[in-house]
Amino acid sequence: MTPLRTLWYMGAKTRLCEEFIDGAVRDLVSPGATILDACSGTGAVGRWFAGDYRVLANDAQEFSSVIARAHLEVSEDWARALDRLEPESDLAEARGRNADALESLYAESLTREAELLDQLLTTDPIEGALLTEYRRFCSLVPVPFQSPQNDLQDDPYATIRPLLPEFLSERRRTSESTPAMMCVAYWGQVYFGIKQAIAIDSIRQAIIEIPAESEFSQEKKSIYLAALLHAVSVSTSGTSHFAQPRSVEKDKELVAVAKRRSIDIEEQFELALDAIRREVLERPRLSGNRVFCSDVLELLGEDSPLDTEKVDLVYLDPPYTSDNYSRFYHVLETLARYDYPELQCRGEELTKGRYPIRETRFTSDFCSGSQVEEAFRKVAKGCVSRGASLLISYSGDTGLLTKKWTREGHSQPVSQMRDLLLEYFNTVEVREQKLMHSGQGDTNKAVQELLLLCEV
Ligand SMILES: C[S@@+](CC[C@H](N)C(=O)[O-])C[C@H]1O[C@@H](n2cnc3c(N)ncnc32)[C@H](O)[C@@H]1O
Repeated sequence: MTPLRTLWYMGAKTRLCEEFIDGAVRDLVSPGATILDACSGTGAVGRWFAGDYRVLANDAQEFSSVIARAHLEVSEDWARALDRLEPESDLAEARGRNADALESLYAESLTREAELLDQLLTTDPIEGALLTEYRRFCSLVPVPFQSPQNDLQDDPYATIRPLLPEFLSERRRTSESTPAMMCVAYWGQVYFGIKQAIAIDSIRQAIIEIPAESEFSQEKKSIYLAALLHAVSVSTSGTSHFAQPRSVEKDKELVAVAKRRSIDIEEQFELALDAIRREVLERPRLSGNRVFCSDVLELLGEDSPLDTEKVDLVYLDPPYTSDNYSRFYHVLETLARYDYPELQCRGEELTKGRYPIRETRFTSDFCSGSQVEEAFRKVAKGCVSRGASLLISYSGDTGLLTKKWTREGHSQPVSQMRDLLLEYFNTVEVREQKLMHSGQGDTNKAVQELLLLCEV
């Protein structure tokens, strides 16, 4: 079987599919049945089962649904076309046009960046003066939506600086404006180098320009965008997420950032594209897979697009903590939408993380202490009313709900969770596994990973 490649993503179940989740799913439903991967994230779980089961996938984040679509919505016709896919003929012209225009706007900074990265990666020991210069070069990047400073000496961004405010306002007014420059303007020297950001914008624009009337236009857009999201996820100079950029105050961190900014985005894009293509072609999908992009509480509620589907098993892997994925992965979401969103400010200044304003980011009931119990209840109710079994992944010790119950004095939060589910289902079996956690700051801490198997 093809090894699953995954985005850098908190709580991705890649490792757990084979050793833990596979057995539970097979105990609940037989091959050929329909599974809804209700909070699909990287799509790892839906992908694991896609050879044997019909898979519906859903996530509140658009980027997750793009990834799921690329991996799951693969008809026989599209699989045949995929075998002959020619990214160069689909993308090269528009990508080159966008890149040429941006390269002339950022010409001085591209040259300077190439020199500095080359020196930083080839000299040993690195002199303090070189680090100071690279730090200064990064810090001078124009900040979007701020009045440009005009009095800078040796400004490596001299061409773009005075033009940027009007360029961005224009692109907010009309999505037709080119060259596309959201990534370089919003996140250049924040999460990516200038060359990397230009490559991302240019591939993204080429995907936008795939003509709607061309054959397999939607399928192509999904697979190319999924590959780009993958490339972006594994190339960021931040940490494994986008909650905030890496601080470059320490020299060691600055050198680490320089290394990551030397990663070739186009190469990563091609690698990801090949990997998706290989995986999909090696394990043909059953027909009828579908992807939704919705709050699972609405999807399982009344009058939902799911009403036309017969679902045998809902697999629910919600966020375990109060951290909303829309904040941690805002770059991937914004890249999927590509709509030059208004950015959040703290006081007069943009946040370091350059988040879109809060109103445009999805907030999950599973991340809210006051809503999380009701969220589980709604899912349970929705499954029962659809005659579907439910399989939940959650944490016995670090889950928002289990922690809350422990704080409230319940000595056995896992039994409490089982009792809650037994209000809806006839049988609820709990399986658990100790897992070494690899989330932020918690490395090497064993956590209690649960599976709750609920049957009507
Ligand atoms: C733990 S991750 C899922 C990881 C996934 N199983 C994987 O292997 O990659 C939780 C996911 O739930 C999504 N999510 C959070 N609240 C949601 C909601 N109310 N409806 C749908 N998706 C939600 C997040 O966007 C995130 O992708």
